[in-house]
Amino acid sequence: MTINMPSGVTELGAKDLGSLFHPNTNLAVHHANGPTVFTRGEGIRVWDDQNNEYIEGMAGLWCATLGYGDEELAKTAYEQIKKLSFAHLFAGRSHESAIQLADKLASMAPFRNARIFFGNSGSDANDTQIKLIWYYNNAIGRPKKKKIISRKKGYHGVTVAAASLTGLPPFHQGFDIPIPRIIHTESPYYYRGAEPGESEEDYATRLAASLEQLILSEDPDTVAAMIAEPLMGVGGVLLPPATYFQKVQAVLDKYDILLLDDEVICGFGRCGNTWGADTFHMKPHTISVAKALSSAYLPISAVIVPDFMYEPMIEASGEVGLFGHGFTYSGHPVSAAVALRTLEIYEERKLYDHVRRVTPKFQSRLSALGAHPLVGEARGVGLLGACELVRDKSTKEAFDPRLAVGAKCMAMCQQHGLIVRAIGDAVAVCPPYIVNAADIDDIFDRYQKGLDDTLSWASKEGLL
Ligand SMILES: Cc1ncc(COP(=O)(O)O)c(C=O)c1O
Repeated sequence: MTINMPSGVTELGAKDLGSLFHPNTNLAVHHANGPTVFTRGEGIRVWDDQNNEYIEGMAGLWCATLGYGDEELAKTAYEQIKKLSFAHLFAGRSHESAIQLADKLASMAPFRNARIFFGNSGSDANDTQIKLIWYYNNAIGRPKKKKIISRKKGYHGVTVAAASLTGLPPFHQGFDIPIPRIIHTESPYYYRGAEPGESEEDYATRLAASLEQLILSEDPDTVAAMIAEPLMGVGGVLLPPATYFQKVQAVLDKYDILLLDDEVICGFGRCGNTWGADTFHMKPHTISVAKALSSAYLPISAVIVPDFMYEPMIEASGEVGLFGHGFTYSGHPVSAAVALRTLEIYEERKLYDHVRRVTPKFQSRLSALGAHPLVGEARGVGLLGACELVRDKSTKEAFDPRLAVGAKCMAMCQQHGLIVRAIGDAVAVCPPYIVNAADIDDIFDRYQKGLDDTLSWASKEGLL
């Protein structure tokens, strides 16, 4: 293949174009534009290979909660590598970091007597969720009860089963996904999904009724679980309408269907409480965590499993001769040590309180962007938000997706030294927890400039 080198590409950028296969990237656009190559980070800021400085307004991928270059986490990793760089959990072997982290997570779980199963990513945690549900239902003699309900616009990862849970077309198209037994219900998207004049409560009632219809049409005896993020991040920062989870949960309870909570973005304080489930009144049966678990310093994920599921699996695995699921790096000692230190730092530095303290400023600056001529809706909770860009605010008319207006806005913000993320035409912002009030002003001043530049571009191009 001949590699086209876009103008202005740096030496590292050229190597990237020659050798890297980028995940979750429009490969055609990447080859036309080349990469932005980051070389260092400190606090909430990162620098590229031309020494341009940016505020990381997305905490990487909604994950670098403690920002960059934390000395204590670096020391923890270094010391654990020297002490015991690898140990595994297969065949009953164990080690201190995994035990201490499991103990800590179990004490934080919103249900009693939790068990912790470790993995390496949010995707594999959600794959594990599916396998555990299937194994559990086999163990308790319900071999028919296997289907998993997910939601359109939900994001649960990219491995074959997790991508099937994901309800976004680019993660299915061309990959022969979804696999059987995974079905999708409506997403809670009040801005676009509600009828004119419909209250949040009425909209939630309608969504719960549509879920019930789906369950009945599939046969409730074949439906095992529903998976949901407390709020949909990658789907466009979609907050559940008031009463949504109470109503959904009543339907699930009626048909003995478990609720799997994907806390990969929301877990550990992002929405203002330890769990997104607390913010949005979910009562989950199991939980997936990753990202903020280690502040993204090292890869690690976990599934938090309730006692009532674990117990029947003990006997079942005895009969089979093995509980045949797990990864070489399940509970990797260095990742686990860093994750444990991260959870301790959240408490020692009072970061849950800090997030709650700076949230009003963050949310008021975000909602002020709602007045911008391009912004149809500014929505968010805690230290997370998005502006949905529209062609016409009064009719909510969207731009033609091929114009990639959201991506344009993201690029404009980047020119002002702010990293945000375009999800279609919703432009998300999700900074590290360590932002202070001045940082928040800086972030939204830059965001406003990015929006203004996008507006000038759109009017010059005749798009309005
Ligand atoms: C809610 C949610 N679940 C799962 C995942 C997948 O995590 P990973 O990319 O670590 O596989 C993500 C990633 O953004 C996510 O947002």
